[in-house]
Amino acid sequence: MSSLIDKIVSLCKRRGFLFQGSELYGGLQGTYDYGPMGVELKNNVKRAWWRANVYERDDMEGIDTAILMNRLVLKYSGHEDTFSDPLVDCRKCKKRFRADQVDPHEKCAQGGAHDLTEPRPFNLMFRTTVGPIADDANVAYLRPETAQGIFVNFKNVLDATNRKLPFGIAQIGKAYRNEITPKNFIFRVREFEQMEIEYFVMPGEDQAWHERWIADRVAWYHKYGIRPANLRQYVQHANELAHYAKACTDLLYRFFPEREEEAKQYDEVEGIANRTDFDLTCHTRGGKLVFADGREVANKDATMKQTYFDDKSKQHLTPYVIEPSGGVDRIALAFLMDAYEEQTLGEDKQRTVLHLHPDIAPVKVAVLALARNKPPIVEMARRIKAELQRSGRLRSMYDDSGNIGKCYARQDEIGTPFCVTVDHQSTEDQQVTVRHRDTMAQDRIAVGALERYLEERLLA
Ligand code: GAP
Repeated sequence: MSSLIDKIVSLCKRRGFLFQGSELYGGLQGTYDYGPMGVELKNNVKRAWWRANVYERDDMEGIDTAILMNRLVLKYSGHEDTFSDPLVDCRKCKKRFRADQVDPHEKCAQGGAHDLTEPRPFNLMFRTTVGPIADDANVAYLRPETAQGIFVNFKNVLDATNRKLPFGIAQIGKAYRNEITPKNFIFRVREFEQMEIEYFVMPGEDQAWHERWIADRVAWYHKYGIRPANLRQYVQHANELAHYAKACTDLLYRFFPEREEEAKQYDEVEGIANRTDFDLTCHTRGGKLVFADGREVANKDATMKQTYFDDKSKQHLTPYVIEPSGGVDRIALAFLMDAYEEQTLGEDKQRTVLHLHPDIAPVKVAVLALARNKPPIVEMARRIKAELQRSGRLRSMYDDSGNIGKCYARQDEIGTPFCVTVDHQSTEDQQVTVRHRDTMAQDRIAVGALERYLEERLLA
């Protein structure tokens, strides 16, 4: 029996959510292209996150920083020295593994067990050169996280907005990691998107804010339909923390329900870390980067001091940072998996349906013309689609491609909450049939009342 993730992979390809990157030329491992449905889904995930974390709060600013970063940013953040995974090679079959992810039961292609080398660090950042001369002086990196773009702009945003602590900066954008073993569809890829918040607080208030952010982020997943049983919190132990973090709670989603051991069914969808004043201390003139082993690098290159003037104490201080950091691709995958259902409707009758939250669903309403060879029906259906689309609030789709059962099945599979059917009767009584995705119930609604009817049910 195929796993849930395999079923999602197949649906994603069939219905145009996701394709292997560069598939035409045999693919490029660790990359995926979002198709017509996928781009809508992904944009909706990002919109729902931005809405909750920027628009609906009064303590947040947005930002959009460059993917290519000056090498010094990644030097002083510690990434140049420490952003690596342990790599091992099999001396017999030459396969490469992440040392902490080798399956002890896997057999070597040359027979017997793998004959592994000692682990050595492999830096995950993609290097490139900027400008026409490809030498070491012109090395730059594709950012491995969007966070650094926020940290190096802390002072710029502070000066431009006159914010007082606590306040946060949000960013959505691409990040790149040369993962040793990309796997599990879009769960671990080499090019992905992150949605990150750096929330700056007074030292001493960090723990309380950390707890509030964990609660807020959990509530966001629940609001958009993730079943509470499928989302867990995992508090990292001291020896698991990244070098910059004092505490971190991971939100784990049940990506692998088939795995025997329950704990292994869950994996990280988002991390919420307390990064203390680590980052602003690294990225400030006269500051320093302190590695986990105690080594220190003084920052002689930053052009500004990135501190905050506290009106109460009349002192300059370095804020602490709480960082909720999620991956768009993993979150989209979690939404797809949670929404997926194969329903048996009766003898020999089945349907596959995505019960996506309306805000996340790629298409909100499909307008179906019952007969494509009847101009009055086609004209009426096209007019209704155009009218529903006009406000920009309801992404609608026109379809006259075939029998109504097939149209419903296709829309169920992409998670469209409502289908509106224009039939022979409609041109006479100006009424249409509205079919609900989840219950399959049907209502007859006057065209004049349709937009309001749908908006009441679709827009939160
Ligand atoms: N700024 C902190 C940071 O980047 P992270 O745990 O390395 O923390 C945050 O990444 C999130 O980014 C993860 O929870 C995951 O959702 C996503 N992510 C990280 N690496 C990924 C990869 N290779 N493929 C897909 N998503 C990834």
